[in-house]
Amino acid sequence: MNIEVLSLELNQVQLQDEQALEQFRIRFLGSKNVLKELYAAIKDIPNDQKRAYGQQVNALKERAEQIYHEAKAALTQTQAMGTAEDLSRPAGAVKVGAHHPLSLIRREIIEIFNRVGFVVSEGPEIEDDWHNFSALNFPPEHPARDMQDTFFISKGANELALRTHTSSVQVRVMEDQAPPIRTISPGRVYRNEAISARAHCFFHQVEGLYIDKGVSFADLKQTLLYFAQALFGPQTQIRMRPSYFPFTEPSAEVDVSCSLCNAKGCNVCKHTGWLEIMGCGMVDPNVLEACDIDPSVYSGFAFGMGVERIAQLKYRVTDLRLYSENDVRFLRQFKPGMS
Ligand code: PHE
Repeated sequence: MNIEVLSLELNQVQLQDEQALEQFRIRFLGSKNVLKELYAAIKDIPNDQKRAYGQQVNALKERAEQIYHEAKAALTQTQAMGTAEDLSRPAGAVKVGAHHPLSLIRREIIEIFNRVGFVVSEGPEIEDDWHNFSALNFPPEHPARDMQDTFFISKGANELALRTHTSSVQVRVMEDQAPPIRTISPGRVYRNEAISARAHCFFHQVEGLYIDKGVSFADLKQTLLYFAQALFGPQTQIRMRPSYFPFTEPSAEVDVSCSLCNAKGCNVCKHTGWLEIMGCGMVDPNVLEACDIDPSVYSGFAFGMGVERIAQLKYRVTDLRLYSENDVRFLRQFKPGMS
């Protein structure tokens, strides 16, 4: 090691981070620093040169100390600046949440019916017997009431229950408004069922009602075809199978052609090519009468579907329980643009 080489090194040294600074300290200022070697060599220097030699080594040492202290001060300052608020810095991205899949489907269903003039109506989840059953032509003690296992809140004269369908809302609309009526009622409904992958004690419905002069079954069929094609795609077909509901006559179950396999047959449609999505029918004259609407002047159709069922078909969710578990790993998948 000689003075010239070390002097050159000091000229070129760059101490930009903590690690480089520490290495420099050990090399030039530590207990085994390189200058010690130069000091030790003083004994071999001819006497008349000792003084000049000593001064050069001292100067090197001072320069090394100066470089070290300056670099250290500069580094401390940049570190301090790094942690200070920089008000001109662009804001970080805000984490956006996702809409619940049932909200997405409900909104889509509402939008489709809005386009053909249906407006949303809502009602209470705790209902009396009249709005949930009697006005809808469920006779007292009729087995039809057993179709929907009900959570009763109070029995007897002031019977209250958690509504089993949102048809109750439609009774309220018919009582309050004169025809023409075109409404859909989205909402949560409750049934006393054991919870499993395929059944839950609460779920969501969208039910629809159209009442005017001269409304026919053909109008019902056309409206539901329009709806099915808007929701599942223009190639979608529908079919109706005769069914029974106390509040409609005639009544039907509606199937749509399976959009997952193009009606060729798959696991979801159980190889039939068809998926059941809703119940519907012409409003029973008894229901119109119960709501003070003259069945000899007016007629109407009604339909009702489960939102979970539609979401299950659109998103291929196979376990109903996922909708109410609030597991973010499930919910995160429904961020905008991912459906
Ligand atoms: N209210 C029925 C249900 O809860 C659905 C339905 C509505 C059927 C209107 C026919 C007409 O399943």
